[in-house]
Amino acid sequence: MTSSKGFFSHFDDVWMLDGVRTPMVDYCGALGHISPTDLGIKAARAVLARSGVPGGHIGAVIAGNMAPGDFDQFFLPRHIGLYAGVPVEVPALMAQRICGTGFELFRQAGESIQSGACEAALVVGTESMTRNPIAAFSHRTGFKLGAPVDFKDYMWEALKDPAAGINMIQTAENLAKKYSISREQVDEFASASFAKAVAAQQAGFHAGEIVPVITEKFELEGYQSRGIKLQGKITEVAQDTHARISPADVLAKLRSVYEGGVQTGGNSAALVDAAAAAVVASGRYAKTHGKKPMARVVAAAVVGVPPEIMGIGPAPAIRLLLERAGLRLDQIGRFEINEAQGAQTLAVGRELGLDLSLLNVNGGAIALGHPLATTGVRLTITLARELQRANKRWGIASACIGGGQGIALLLENPESAT
Ligand SMILES: CC(C)(COP(=O)(O)OP(=O)(O)OC[C@H]1O[C@@H](n2cnc3c(N)ncnc32)[C@H](O)[C@@H]1OP(=O)(O)O)[C@@H](O)C(=O)NCCC(=O)NCCS
Repeated sequence: MTSSKGFFSHFDDVWMLDGVRTPMVDYCGALGHISPTDLGIKAARAVLARSGVPGGHIGAVIAGNMAPGDFDQFFLPRHIGLYAGVPVEVPALMAQRICGTGFELFRQAGESIQSGACEAALVVGTESMTRNPIAAFSHRTGFKLGAPVDFKDYMWEALKDPAAGINMIQTAENLAKKYSISREQVDEFASASFAKAVAAQQAGFHAGEIVPVITEKFELEGYQSRGIKLQGKITEVAQDTHARISPADVLAKLRSVYEGGVQTGGNSAALVDAAAAAVVASGRYAKTHGKKPMARVVAAAVVGVPPEIMGIGPAPAIRLLLERAGLRLDQIGRFEINEAQGAQTLAVGRELGLDLSLLNVNGGAIALGHPLATTGVRLTITLARELQRANKRWGIASACIGGGQGIALLLENPESAT
């Protein structure tokens, strides 16, 4: 028996035609009352409109969502497809690889297109961190007199890995110790993430991938209509909300989540609500319909790592991706690695010997947020756009995954040969 280093998939002729996202809004903010299905429908409709791909050309709907944000979550991929205008005959799948879900959607789309199962796929990641339920799993059979009531905060509980007996912040603390990463270094990294995000926002970079959320109805002939109703006097939500200039000395004053630890609310991924969607298609589809793709989806790699240091996952995933794709690290012009926690991303950087000036150049999740299933789609769209902006050929987007996995996606800019 041979031991596996993980999955590797190479796609010969798979392209991202377009991608958009909603703004990423701090949880309990202006998107907090909207279900992930409706946020997903919004992003899906927007990407079909922007790409000019009719819903009738979509052969697969592949959606991701981690936390149930409403009682209709079972139907989320199906309802996103139907209300986005994809024909009733087209099947819809929910894929789940925790924080790597968004990338997994591209991997699934790539496999479906490569195998000839479809010519074009709609991929949608959507997450409402706000609407994580307060849940109990043990009350179906009733409450015994005086027995403890078991309702808990789903989001807080879900960030704990019972196998390792620790939560995600503690996995980053383990990496900080392993790689001798100090609180000061994590705050400096976080401060730079905020500064890059604010600069990119001011330069209009993020606006290029954001579709504003407005009050609107989603009609579907013969079925119930649904939609988005913004609250109060808000008529439009068009901007990410978390990024703000955050000097390292200000971040240094925040209390660490665990005493003596390096992670705080200021240098960990922000909790935000958002959806992102992309159209992925074969080269034949793009040519036949005169579409100019944003990026070639070249390959994907997924690996396992020990649960207690889950945050290191991108390092072996990127190594496997490069090894099997026949590229070197120094050929990659841009990296988007999800900043789940500052120490975690720094550990990945050290493990790979990464040039940090190529990483998350428009800000990362510490500044912009990490809406779990949305993140991989958002990072892929951002990377494709950044490769075009900077005229770089190769880019890698990656994320660590709770429970101990890493996933990475290789993109090629169709416009650049260098
Ligand atoms: C780290 C974490 C527990 C913090 O949660 P929280 O305590 O609700 O964080 P808050 O946003 O309230 O921030 C804590 C404090 O820091 C302050 N703060 C946060 N960012 C700041 C910034 N950029 N500048 C100044 N102050 C800031 C807040 O204002 C708050 O101050 P207060 O206590 O006086 O109100 C949470 O964000 C988290 O778990 N993030 C990581 C998510 C994750 O691991 N995802 C999965 C990856 S596998």
